[in-house]
Amino acid sequence: MAGEQKQQLFKEAMGNYPTGVTVVTTAAANGEPVGLTVNSFASVSLDPLLILWSIDHKVSTIQEFVKSGKFAVHILAGDQQDLCMTFATKGVDRFSTCKWSFSPEYNLPIIEGAFAVLQCNTFKTVEAGDHTILIGEVDDIQINADKDPMLYHRRHFASIPAEFYNTNK
Ligand SMILES: Cc1cc2nc3c(=O)[nH]c(=O)nc-3n(C[C@H](O)[C@H](O)[C@H](O)COP(=O)(O)O)c2cc1C
Repeated sequence: MAGEQKQQLFKEAMGNYPTGVTVVTTAAANGEPVGLTVNSFASVSLDPLLILWSIDHKVSTIQEFVKSGKFAVHILAGDQQDLCMTFATKGVDRFSTCKWSFSPEYNLPIIEGAFAVLQCNTFKTVEAGDHTILIGEVDDIQINADKDPMLYHRRHFASIPAEFYNTNK
């Protein structure tokens, strides 16, 4: 199969794989918060508690993430669609559009309203093609039980519909 055709099929297959959405943040060396929308997030290990996500080498803040050695993963709630778009849009002052503060324990930028927040130390980075995989050891977990997570599929964002639970009995 030709390389271009294979890449097209890869995009179609992966774009149809439903995921949640996260925003991952860290503090740059100058103290400024940085962050981006990420759906490559996945669970890796229970002992120790490890998760991963991958960052495109083209992302402007990749060095900040590699150098800081820690990051916070926000598992977005269904009602955070604007946040999801803002943190994927270039040239926007992302943190001026949301309520956030630095966590006292880790000095990581924590955005309000997520379904869950995992504060992590970088366990390992792995170079993989045009991305770098960041594996994080989870140090702190906060869950907002009043919220539902966001679903992402074929470039659509939504809360999980109530019917979903009825059809799986
Ligand atoms: C739903 C969604 C998921 C995304 N997942 C990733 C991801 O896993 N890794 C990544 O590097 N970029 C991902 N992006 C793209 C980045 O959010 C985008 O390239 C980044 O915000 C650009 O940042 P910059 O302007 O600082 O370069 C995703 C975008 C969207 C809308």
